Amino acid sequence: MRQALALGQRARLHTTPNPWVGAVVVTTTGDVFEGFTAPPGGLHAERRALEAAGHAAAGATVYTTLEPCAHHGRTSPCTDALVAAGVARVVVGVADPDPNVAGTGLAQLAAAGIEVTMAADAVAADVERSLQPYLHHRRTGRPYVVLKLAMTLDGRTAAPDGTSQWITGPEARADVHRLRAESDAIVVGAGTVRADDPSLTVRSFHPAHPPERAPLDPRRIVLGTLPPGARVEPAETHTGTIRELVQRLGSEHLVQLLVEGGASVAGDFHRSGLVDRYVFYMAPAMLGGGDGVPVFSGQGAPTMDDVWRGVIDGLRRLGDDIRIDVVPRDASP
Ligand SMILES: NC(=O)c1ccc[n+]([C@@H]2O[C@H](COP(=O)([O-])OP(=O)(O)OC[C@H]3O[C@@H](n4cnc5c(N)ncnc54)[C@H](OP(=O)(O)O)[C@@H]3O)[C@@H](O)[C@H]2O)c1
Repeated sequence: MRQALALGQRARLHTTPNPWVGAVVVTTTGDVFEGFTAPPGGLHAERRALEAAGHAAAGATVYTTLEPCAHHGRTSPCTDALVAAGVARVVVGVADPDPNVAGTGLAQLAAAGIEVTMAADAVAADVERSLQPYLHHRRTGRPYVVLKLAMTLDGRTAAPDGTSQWITGPEARADVHRLRAESDAIVVGAGTVRADDPSLTVRSFHPAHPPERAPLDPRRIVLGTLPPGARVEPAETHTGTIRELVQRLGSEHLVQLLVEGGASVAGDFHRSGLVDRYVFYMAPAMLGGGDGVPVFSGQGAPTMDDVWRGVIDGLRRLGDDIRIDVVPRDASP
């Protein structure tokens, strides 16, 4: 299952709105065949691994990170392919909450006499984590919202004159490019467009395993009024509430939304309660006063009893900087 998990990650950048699944076929003679999800319209992971195995798939055990699909979409059901190949056993990382699947994949395999096993808890938790944006989208109908901010050690995201480029070093900025490449859309405030005219690029992102299609150019959404001549293209503007925006993007099959600030947009998203992951890049730098731009503007908790508390879900050094991932308490296992 760990091998299947690693394969699934190779598909991470080019399958949405479909899940990035990995599958491994282990034959009766111990030979191993691999597959991961092709871009939309292409074959799913299980089908690719079965194709690689050919006739040797008869009697094999198949490890797949996600419950096989049982419905006709752009491709025929993976359950049909597994039954036709004559596999003996299927080990599944996590059940698929997509309403088209939701247990029917497991049931169809079992009805065909295939032994179906769910992965052990420890590896299942890792699979759940790797598919988190997809699983969240299918469970809630909303994209997985990631709020990213670069800050100084004393909690500032821009200097008093509005400049914020660059707080962090090249390693952290390359990591942001990876976050963008994983996301289906980027939200940025009109204030940031006015101050920075950001290009929001994925340009320095060089994946270790180049995907079959170049990293997607995520859609850009600007909250507020776009200043004339802004370079953020292609962009749409939104003037409704944060919840309306998030709901709409979920119904448009966006699986991951990256919010890049500034302080006003970050504060509104935070207070909306719709942020699923906070990614803070913190530099060992200090503006040294109270007049820089804070992480969030607007009204915060009035007293310690009301303070928002999360759980640290990752801590990584990137060059001179650190990346801290924080998730809401109710989202952590
Ligand atoms: N360090 C970092 O990671 C980072 C990241 C981004 C930006 N920054 C810095 O942050 C500063 C800009 O921050 P900021 O707070 O001034 O601006 P901002 O948050 O980028 O944009 C504020 C504008 O966005 C619109 N807006 C905000 N909330 C909205 C909502 N809920 N619904 C609809 N529209 C909404 C409004 O536009 P209208 O006024 O047009 O209605 C508002 O004036 C810049 O100095 C920039 O360099 C730092």
